[in-house]
Amino acid sequence: CGIVGYIGPREAYPIIVEGLKRLEYRGYDSAGIALFDGKDLKVSKTKGKVADLETRSEKEITKYGSVGIGHTRWATHGVPNDVNSHPHISNSGELVIIHNGIIENYESLKKELISRGYTFKSDTDTEVLINLIEDVKKQENVKLGKAVQIALNQVVGAYAIAVFDKNKPEEIVIARLGSPLAIGVGEDEFFIASDASPFLEYTKNAIYLEDEEMAIIRFHKGIKIRKIKDDSLVDPYIQKLQINLEQIEKGGFDHFMLKEIHEQPKAITDTYRGRLLRHEAIIKMAGIEDNMKKFLNADRIIIVACGTSWHAGLVAEYIFEDLARVPVEVEYASEFRYRNPIITEKDVLIAISQSGETADTLAAIKLAKSKGAFVFGVCNVVGSSIARETHAGAYTHAGPEIGVASTKAFTTQITVLTLIALRLARAKGTISSSDFRHHLLELEMIPKKVEEALKSDKHIQKISETYKDTSNFLYLGRGYNFPVALEGALKLKEISYIHAEGYPAAEMKHGPIALIDENMPIVVIATKKGHYEKVVSNIQEIKSRKGKIIGIVTEGDVQVKELADHVIEVPETLESLSPLLTTIPLQLLSYHIAVMLGKNVDQPRNLAKSVTVE
Ligand code: G6P
Repeated sequence: CGIVGYIGPREAYPIIVEGLKRLEYRGYDSAGIALFDGKDLKVSKTKGKVADLETRSEKEITKYGSVGIGHTRWATHGVPNDVNSHPHISNSGELVIIHNGIIENYESLKKELISRGYTFKSDTDTEVLINLIEDVKKQENVKLGKAVQIALNQVVGAYAIAVFDKNKPEEIVIARLGSPLAIGVGEDEFFIASDASPFLEYTKNAIYLEDEEMAIIRFHKGIKIRKIKDDSLVDPYIQKLQINLEQIEKGGFDHFMLKEIHEQPKAITDTYRGRLLRHEAIIKMAGIEDNMKKFLNADRIIIVACGTSWHAGLVAEYIFEDLARVPVEVEYASEFRYRNPIITEKDVLIAISQSGETADTLAAIKLAKSKGAFVFGVCNVVGSSIARETHAGAYTHAGPEIGVASTKAFTTQITVLTLIALRLARAKGTISSSDFRHHLLELEMIPKKVEEALKSDKHIQKISETYKDTSNFLYLGRGYNFPVALEGALKLKEISYIHAEGYPAAEMKHGPIALIDENMPIVVIATKKGHYEKVVSNIQEIKSRKGKIIGIVTEGDVQVKELADHVIEVPETLESLSPLLTTIPLQLLSYHIAVMLGKNVDQPRNLAKSVTVE
C-alpha cells in the first residue's frame, strides 16, 4: 500500500492526489483521502484507482485545506470495497488514520474494544487500531503522539501509519515497523510518503524513519522522532536525494513496463559501471572486497528471494556453481523462514529484492542474522529496509522500476550476481585469467546486444497477435535458461492473465507433454551454446505432437528454424550470460499480448510491486 501526507502552507489536496498516483504501483485496489478543510474533517474513499477517487472526491471534499493524508491500498484484511478503504475514522469522528501492513492481534484487540462499547464499520485491522488509539487517548488522558505510542506497544504486526486529530490539525503523527516511511522536509512544510517519489518535485531533503520509530510532525514547529518502545529521542538524519522526477515518468512510452524494457541497455551499463574494469582486468565491488574472507570461507551460499528476484537467484545458482565452484541453495524467502532451516556462521546468505521491502525476504534475513550467518543484499531501491538490514550489499542501479511486472530489475540483478560470481571465481582461482577476461569483454558487450534483441519488437508483436487468444502457454529451457523459462511464464501470467508454466525442457516428457496439442504454443529457449542438440530433440518431440513452437534462437540459427513455427533471434554470447538476452523477447511477448488483450500492463489486477505483508 502507499501512504502520502502533507502539512504546510499549500493546498494539500493536489499534492496528495498526485502523490498517490505515483505510489499506485504499491497497490491499487482502493484509494482514499482525509483532509482538514479549516473547519472540519473531510474523508473521501473508494474502491478502485486514484482516478476513481478523484471523480468521487470532487463531490465530497472541498479542496481547501493544508493538512491531509491519503492512501492507496493493496487489500489484506477485507475485500477491496468502499468501506474497507482507508482512511478510517475513530468512533468519535475525531481521529483519522491510514495504515500499511497487518495488525496480527487485531481480533483480540477488537473484542476488547467492542466490550467497551466501540463499534466497527469495516472488517479491517486498521479500524481497530484507530479506535485503540482513541481509547488510550481518552483513558489515559494523553496527547495524540503519546496515545499512538502506547497503542502501538500493544500491537503485534507490521505497519506504517499516519494519524491526525481534527481538533488539532496542525500535527500529524506517523510511525513505522516493517513498512517504509519517508518524510520530505521543505521550508516550513512537510511531506510524508512511502517512498520519496510523491515529494521529489518539492524537496530533495528526506528523512527515512527506521523500524520502531515514530515522528510527530508539527506545522511551524518541526519534527520530533522517538523510539516507540522506550520513548528515547532520535536525532533526525536528513538525506539529500539524488533521483530525478523524470526518472520516474514514462518518457514517451505507452507504459512504464515498455519504458523499463527499453531501459535495460542503460540499466545494465549503470550496474557494471565502475565495477567492471576491463582494461585492468578486475572487478571491484566494495561490499565484496570488504568481506572477501566471509565469502571465501563460506561452506555454501544460500539465496533467498521472492517472485522475479527468486528467478534471478536461480540463474545465480548456475553461475556461482559453474564459475566460483561454491555450493548454492536458492530458497523462496517465505518457505525458508518458516521451515526451521539449518543455518550456521559459515553460511553466506544473499537476499535479492528489487524493492528492498519484501516482508518475507526481510524476515529471512533477520532469521539468518540471528543464527550468525553473513548476510549480503542485492537491492535496487537505495536506502530500503533490506539494504539497511543486511551486513553488506551491492545495489543494482537500475533506476526506479514502476511497472509492477519486473523487467530491468531482473536483468540488473543477474548482472550484479554475475559480477560477484566472477569476482569470487577470480579470488578462488576457479577461473583462468583468459576466461575471466573473456567474460568481462562479453559482459561489457551485453548492453549493445540487448539493444539488438529489442529490435525484434515488431516481429514479436506479430507473433503475439497469433497467440493472444490462447488460454495456455508452455515455456521450456535448459541449464542457464531454465530459470528464464520460469520468468517468461511468470511475466505472461502476471500481465495477460493467460495461464503459463515454465519447465526444464527435459522434464517436459514427465508430465507437461500430456498438455501438448495443436492449440498449445510452446516457447522454447534454444540458443546455440548450452545443450543445443538436446533442446532440438525436445523440439522434435513437441513437433510430433503438433504443438506450436516459438523458438528463441541464436542469430543465424538453421536447425530450429526448420522445425519451429516462429523463431526470435538474439545475438550470440557466452552461455552464462545468455539469460540477459533470452529474457528480452519473453518480456516483449508478454507485454504485447497483454496490451492486445486490453489489460492494465503496469498495474495488473491483484498484484502489488512492493509486498510488505507476509
Ligand atoms: C511482487 C512483485 C514481483 C516481485 C516480487 C518480489 O510480487 O509483483 O514483481 O518479483 O514481489 O519483489 P522484490 O521487490 O523483493 O524483488
